[in-house]
Parts: sequence; C-alpha cells; structure tokens
Amino acid sequence: MQGIDLTRSKQKTTKKPMPSMAEQVHIAAEHIRNIYANDIDSGLILGSGLGDIPDYFKVIETIPYHDIPYFPHSTAPSHSGKLLIAELGGSIVAVFQGRFHLYEGWHVTQIVLGVYTLKALGASELLVTNAAGALNPEFKPGEVMLIEDHLNFTGQSPLIGQTEELGPRFPDMSRAYEPALLDHMRDCAGTLGQSLQSGIYAGVTGPALETSAERRFYRMAGADAIGMSTVPEVIAAKHCGLNVLGMSAITNMAVGDASQQVDSIEEVLNNAAIASQAMFPLLREFLQSR
Ligand code: HPA
Repeated sequence: MQGIDLTRSKQKTTKKPMPSMAEQVHIAAEHIRNIYANDIDSGLILGSGLGDIPDYFKVIETIPYHDIPYFPHSTAPSHSGKLLIAELGGSIVAVFQGRFHLYEGWHVTQIVLGVYTLKALGASELLVTNAAGALNPEFKPGEVMLIEDHLNFTGQSPLIGQTEELGPRFPDMSRAYEPALLDHMRDCAGTLGQSLQSGIYAGVTGPALETSAERRFYRMAGADAIGMSTVPEVIAAKHCGLNVLGMSAITNMAVGDASQQVDSIEEVLNNAAIASQAMFPLLREFLQSR
C-alpha cells in the first residue's frame, strides 16, 4: 500500500540562525581588515549620479560588495556596488560606490550595515552625499546643498528591534549633522569661492516621485530638498557615535507649483554629475585642510 512518508516532513532542518547585527558587522569588518589592515579615517557614501570619483582619490583597494559577508548588493541605477579604500587629502577614506535604498526592498538594517562596519574599522566620521529634488524655489539644479538637518518621512528606523550592542537605544539626534563639520565645510566653500546652499533634507522611501501636493506639504513641513536615502544611514551613524556631514546634489525642481516640470531620471543623473564637479573639490578641501 502506498502512503505518505510522514518521517520526511517531520525531519528537522539544521539551518544556522542568522547572526546578530553586531556579529554581521564584526564578520564584514574582519573581511575588509584582511584586505586593508589599517584604520579608516572617514566613510564616504556616494549618491545617485555621484559614483564617478575624480583621479585625486588614490584608490588603494577595491572590494566588491558581493565579496563582503552580509553586504547587500546595489540594484539602483548608477550605483556600482564597490567599496574603495582610498587616500584623499591625507585621510584614508572608505568610499561606498553605490548605496542601498529602501525602495530596492532591502530591510532598513541591511541598508546601514556598512555604516556600523565603518565604525568597526576605526572611522570617526561619515560623509554622506545624495541626489535630491529642490523643494526650496530659490535652489537650482546642479547646485550643492549642505544638509543642516533632516526630516524622517520614511516611517522606518534602523534602530527598531536592535539591542544595545551597537549603540544606545535612545540616541540623541538634536545635532545630527555635526555643527563643527558644517562650519568647516562652509569655510572650505569660502576658500574655493564655491557657492553652497544650506537646508533641511526630507527623506522618503520612493520609488515613485512625490505628487505636487506632497511636495508642497513637505515644503510646508520645513524641508528644502527631498530624496530617497541618507536618513537611515545618518540615524545609524549617530547611533554608533560617528560625526556626520551631509551634502545633496540638487538634481531637479520639486516645488509642486504651476512651474513643476515632469521629472526624469536622465535629468536627475545629468544634474548630479554637474553638482559633483563642485562637490568633490569641496570634499578634497574639507579633508586636506585640517
Ligand atoms: N524626489 C525624491 N527623490 C529625489 C528627487 C525628488 O524630486 N530627485 C532626486 N531624488
């Protein structure tokens, strides 16, 4: 008589439990230390359209994300998926050439694994860049905005569910973007004769761009620019004690009034490339003049 083999379905699978976030960070950092043994000074996350770094970044090591244990891989356009260890202005910088976004479907804790890994590699600061739409009508595509603060409209936090292994449960966010770093970057802009906007960044999940009504709402809420990244990384950075400097490449007008144009990814990437011509010299000056 033929029957169903019940013993088979009862067999226990011996799948290893997923290591904790802190263990994942430790293992990812070990992998990088085996390639580059010294400490890192700063981390730099490159935003959409900002991945082509100039030659004055002296690349020491190139590590594909898919080789680093537990690292997600980038699926967003113009995000290449490599960690570079580079020398710039006398500092050793871990450059994330490609970042992870909520809209790609990554869990918010996966998005910030690299930030905690930086801390484990000895970094003291995170320099974060992004492409953003201008809610402030005074801004122009191609300009750079220094991020003074942010509004988290993602409805998510990378700290939810974490224990206190990587940082305190209730980290202070009152000066999320380090005032001394903001001052220093403004001085650098002065030295280079480079104009710089300043303002508040609103972080959303995307991937649909905002409706015009939403954009007017975000503007009323006090934001100057809007984008689909940065907020999770900055929360994680503050959580583990990294100082943060943030810069947005203004890529399109997102004012949501009668002048609102149809948004296009080509326009966003083109204007990010224009803004990067101001952003990279500012970063170089920032690192070498202290
Ligand atoms: N909205 C959201 N994210 C963006 C935009 C925008 O207008 N431009 C570039 N990233």
